[in-house]
Amino acid sequence: MADAQYLRLTWTDPVTHRHGHLVIDRLVRGLAGGGTRVRAGCSLEEVSRLAAAMSLKNGALGIPAGGAKCGVDCDPRDPEALPLLTRFVRAMHPFWNSYVATGEDMGVQQSTLNAIFADLGLGSSMRAALRSRDDFDAALEQMRGALSAVHEGTPLVDLVGGYGVAVAATAALERLGLDVPGARVVLQGFGSMGGSAARYLARRGAVVIGVADVRGLVVNRDGLDVERLLAARDEFGVIDRSALAGDDRELPRDEWVALECDVLVPAAVADAINPANCERVRARVVVEAANLPTATAADARLLGRGVTVVPDFVANAATNGWAWWLALGQVGPEPADAFARIDQVIADVVGEVLDHAAAAGVGPREAARRIAGDRLDRLAAEHGVEGPLPLALPAR
Ligand SMILES: NC(=O)c1ccc[n+]([C@@H]2O[C@H](COP(=O)([O-])OP(=O)(O)OC[C@H]3O[C@@H](n4cnc5c(N)ncnc54)[C@H](O)[C@@H]3O)[C@@H](O)[C@H]2O)c1
Repeated sequence: MADAQYLRLTWTDPVTHRHGHLVIDRLVRGLAGGGTRVRAGCSLEEVSRLAAAMSLKNGALGIPAGGAKCGVDCDPRDPEALPLLTRFVRAMHPFWNSYVATGEDMGVQQSTLNAIFADLGLGSSMRAALRSRDDFDAALEQMRGALSAVHEGTPLVDLVGGYGVAVAATAALERLGLDVPGARVVLQGFGSMGGSAARYLARRGAVVIGVADVRGLVVNRDGLDVERLLAARDEFGVIDRSALAGDDRELPRDEWVALECDVLVPAAVADAINPANCERVRARVVVEAANLPTATAADARLLGRGVTVVPDFVANAATNGWAWWLALGQVGPEPADAFARIDQVIADVVGEVLDHAAAAGVGPREAARRIAGDRLDRLAAEHGVEGPLPLALPAR
């Protein structure tokens, strides 16, 4: 799919000479969308793969839009990261005003994007997605409100994705005849995705026994106090170790993959489960909260060992789905509206994928790819690819 992508662009920052990338994998209705990440080493190749995954994510949920992705090559903790991201977003202005919608991703908070897009006069990072709305101004206002809403002290946009991961894990466990209450969970990553997945799995009665952040792994076989750890995070999802409970233990960061558990949730970096470590996985189910966390060869080996892997473009699709449902006017702005819709849609898709995998004798990833690809092709045939012209929205 990556060979035939609609647009691949690399921008060079005139100040630092660092790079930013924008890839549109494909358009449907003249629209594409996907997150913007800031990560040291982020390459055009990485952004291309992620953009292709975004198309599948939209296809899986039946959203009439193609996939896109942006990435800026910089450590998010670098003091230069914010000015660099701001210059990148500014340079990509015509895309936001025409056919690319974006949102937070690794190393970028939605609140940061909200401020940058407001300063640019574009109103919202999802502006392009509202093109088809007759009530454009009202829809933009509602989108701005939803993308800056706070629920239980945390931005709602940081909760919906992890909530979807918890729903996906629940659906997969139930398929295997396993109960969520008492299921042991280990996560790599404790930021937006990992943190909220942990919260909602714990609320469903699962026992979170291990959490890795960039500094290391925290383990408690009797269960970590998830809320306490969440409260001790900094803005980059790193846990203040002084907040650990007396019987919490610290282990080397990469040991998360080998902890015996029921559900393993990679929620940080790409290729986290790879040929070098996949034989160490001792989980029944892997639920991919991160994008591309399982290398292809490792995925095949896990499948061969009977480990159920719920693929990223299904398991972590809720943030993207929620943003598009809002844009399309398909969900109300309240948190309860979001959670109810995610409950229904993600559980249904996971069930459909696992059914298809069992019936066709393929792995869940291949089953999901077939379902998502077919659905997106049908949507493109129905709505067209390029969408109506002119592309540009009226200036505000
Ligand atoms: N934020 C979203 O809405 C969203 C939606 C779908 C998918 N994703 C994907 O989920 C993943 C995480 O995104 P996020 O927004 O939660 O990021 P984030 O920046 O909020 O958090 C990242 C977390 O991973 C940890 N981490 C980084 N490198 C690590 C390593 N090598 N080992 C262990 N921990 C490490 C960080 O310490 C932090 O806890 C990314 O792959 C992203 O593309 C995010």
